[in-house]
Amino acid sequence: MRFLRDGDITVAVVGFGYVGSCLAATLADRGVDVIGVDTDGNLVAELNAGRCRFREEGLAELLGDGLASGRLRITSDYAETRNADVVLVTVGTPVLADGSLADGQLRAACAELSRHLRRGQLFVVKSTVPPGTTRTIVRETLERSGLTGSIDFGLAFSPERLSEGVALRELKTFPIVAGGLDPDSAAAAAEFWRRSLGVRAIPLESPEAAEIVKLADNWWIDANIALANELAKFCAVHEVDVIEVIAAANTIPKGSSMINILLPSVGVGGSCLTKDPWMVWQSARRRGVEILTVPAAREINAGMPEYTAQLALSALADLGKDPDTATIAVLGLAFKNNTGDLRATPTQPTIAAFTKAGAEVRIFDPLVDAAEAEDVFGIPVSASIEDAVRGADCVAVLALHRQLEDLDFATLPVAADCLVLDGRAYYSKGKIHSLRELGYHYRGIGRAA
Ligand SMILES: NC(=O)c1ccc[n+]([C@@H]2O[C@H](COP(=O)([O-])OP(=O)(O)OC[C@H]3O[C@@H](n4cnc5c(N)ncnc54)[C@H](O)[C@@H]3O)[C@@H](O)[C@H]2O)c1
Repeated sequence: MRFLRDGDITVAVVGFGYVGSCLAATLADRGVDVIGVDTDGNLVAELNAGRCRFREEGLAELLGDGLASGRLRITSDYAETRNADVVLVTVGTPVLADGSLADGQLRAACAELSRHLRRGQLFVVKSTVPPGTTRTIVRETLERSGLTGSIDFGLAFSPERLSEGVALRELKTFPIVAGGLDPDSAAAAAEFWRRSLGVRAIPLESPEAAEIVKLADNWWIDANIALANELAKFCAVHEVDVIEVIAAANTIPKGSSMINILLPSVGVGGSCLTKDPWMVWQSARRRGVEILTVPAAREINAGMPEYTAQLALSALADLGKDPDTATIAVLGLAFKNNTGDLRATPTQPTIAAFTKAGAEVRIFDPLVDAAEAEDVFGIPVSASIEDAVRGADCVAVLALHRQLEDLDFATLPVAADCLVLDGRAYYSKGKIHSLRELGYHYRGIGRAA
């Protein structure tokens, strides 16, 4: 059976969180009729009132345009999904403490969908899941409708591989993988992505292959960053600049591409890299295979906030400043540059370590929600950069958003002998030199002291 009809189609996006809203807004912008469904009534009301809680550049405007044009509707009513030709599932898929999938959102969404399912619909799961989930949990729950996957409805898995901060651009350029329960489902999903987003589609033989693609990407990223973080520690003991080493190391080809060591930092955060590798580990373990790189990489990356905090605290001690009486201003709180996302941000344990050492900590980030930040850090967000750094013994740049790139260190009202701690700014040698000329001291992860 063909699971994608010709002509204009209607798409339902189920789970209108960060991923769902980016996807739905982009599809609506490309002229697709989109119905967004989310069980969080407050979120739905907020979005329909023109407020967007997701801090992705351009997203609020794109959602507003979609709603205004009528191409995008957002509701809590699952009955609307019956009108959709394609249903994209983008609910949350966290993991439990043992690394296994917390499948509550996925099961509940599929159960609701099964009540309104009609023949000929194509279902595409985008939420990150362990291999086998689409074929078992999703298919079996949808089949409660009395209809059969591969015969009455199509079912495929397409990983969502966008990256926060640049998501809207990536959605229109990244190739999309589609693994179907059967060849017709895979072909329909691939055709859907080609037509609706204008991107290259990569059909795969099974949903499991596509599920593993997503896990492989994030497993690679987390392990690669772990390597970069250990390389930074290694460079530090030899008083060598890790940034120069990585730039030079990355200049030779290996396999079909170049060596590509990523950058060290204060740590890895966000909702994906901190959990997806555990899905690999747990799913392998259940089948009697022990994956060693996952726990090693997770441990290395999870240790970076403490390493970073100690870098600053020992530098302050070297400057004769007692951490107990020092003031540390943290600029940039999000888990990466140019997002306002505080989920699992490594700045939280870094700040906790500063506070534990007795320091007074002030915080500032132009992109995060101030109330949410106060909740996460237990410290109110300063009204301005100047307020945050006034009299500070250390300015810790833990996320270098564009708004912080032009920071004029010459005019900051900091204390004498102020330390600049570089957690994710990757200041150039020239910049470090000019900071020193201004009287600052500098420490960076893997940067020669
Ligand atoms: N955040 C990212 O950068 C990113 C990137 C790639 C993939 N992913 C994956 O995409 C998925 C979604 O991630 P997210 O960051 O958008 O999560 P999120 O928590 O922001 O959004 C999930 C949404 O689903 C809604 N929901 C929960 N149960 C529901 C139900 N039964 N019916 C309808 N809606 C329901 C929630 O209210 C919430 O709005 C996850 O599997 C995640 O791993 C996320």
